[in-house]
Amino acid sequence: MKAWEIGERQGSADSLRLVERPEPEPAPGEALVRIRASALNYRDHMIINLIDSAPKTAGRIPLSDGAGEVVAVGEGVDSVRPGDRVMVSFFTGWLDGPLRPSHFGTDLGGGRDGTLAELALFPAASLVAVPDSLSDEEAACLPCAALTAWVSLVEFGRMKAGDTVLLLGTGGVSIFGLQFARMMGADAVVTSSSDEKLARARALGATHGINYVRDPAWGRTVAGKTGGADLIIETGGAATLAQSIEAAAFNARIALIGMLGGVGIESDPLALIWKNLHLKGILVGSRRSLEEMTKAIAQNGLRSVIDRRFPFAEAPAAYRHLAAGAHVGKVVISHDTAQA
Ligand SMILES: NC(=O)c1ccc[n+]([C@@H]2O[C@H](COP(=O)([O-])OP(=O)(O)OC[C@H]3O[C@@H](n4cnc5c(N)ncnc54)[C@H](OP(=O)(O)O)[C@@H]3O)[C@@H](O)[C@H]2O)c1
Repeated sequence: MKAWEIGERQGSADSLRLVERPEPEPAPGEALVRIRASALNYRDHMIINLIDSAPKTAGRIPLSDGAGEVVAVGEGVDSVRPGDRVMVSFFTGWLDGPLRPSHFGTDLGGGRDGTLAELALFPAASLVAVPDSLSDEEAACLPCAALTAWVSLVEFGRMKAGDTVLLLGTGGVSIFGLQFARMMGADAVVTSSSDEKLARARALGATHGINYVRDPAWGRTVAGKTGGADLIIETGGAATLAQSIEAAAFNARIALIGMLGGVGIESDPLALIWKNLHLKGILVGSRRSLEEMTKAIAQNGLRSVIDRRFPFAEAPAAYRHLAAGAHVGKVVISHDTAQA
């Protein structure tokens, strides 16, 4: 089978190499999946470019996200059958309950081989059924970006109708956050570096759009327009946390998930205390959360916002597209559109 591997000279998308590997066979408890679509996340860009202490992963098949069809199962597997459409879990070992140290190392595309291959083996228990309402490409977008937005807003944030939700930038996590906010009857405020992207966010239902390049004090602007955000998905880290705190309403919940603007956060803890804010780190989520979110997505007819699709043979171009930051929503690799 064909697979993309991270090469020895990790540091750019050019280090990806297309290789031939033996066709894997499922051991007891495993399922063999023909991957139909993979999706990229900012983390994949960090890994290939060794940004912010990303590990050296030469020889690893990259990408955490994917969906496809079960083609064979190992002994003792009855949760999935050949022919089933499935998506993967980001941490194949995190099935339920809170995050534990033992889940590290089971992350796809980092601790273990990911989805950028024709075929891949997974613990059958980690797979989640793809609903009929979603294509393989749409389902491939859910395991990391959508789940992180869901856990941030629904599980931690306890989002309810009428809340104001603040999303930073227009990447994968933020656009799912916008969609979930609209689905629940909350108002969504989106910031972006680009007026064109803000127009797209408004078309997707954002109530307000703020250009954070033209308005560096956007936190105050958000507070002024809305009375303060009740929920914030913090994707910017060092570049944005102080403004997010400024934007927050009293008792707001801030899900700290990303570091697009760097890791060295300097922030005034008094501001957190003063407003009684909740600040919580969130790392994707469990298989159980993925399944619950997928039910909500199917019942509400929510579809993933895909910016652009690349054929399997052009995987490095997909990485470059994500790195350029011109996308809104998700960047997807379709394994069926062209054989490498
Ligand atoms: N903790 C977790 O479990 C988890 C899970 C998923 C992602 N993340 C993290 O969340 C972040 C977003 O991931 P993603 O996959 O959604 O990224 P993405 O799709 O690559 O989106 C990146 C977008 O963020 C915006 N952006 C860049 N720098 C920014 C800044 N300083 N302030 C505000 N917005 C900025 C840009 O949009 P505009 O051009 O519109 O400004 C950019 O296109 C990353 O740091 C990623 O590592 C964490």
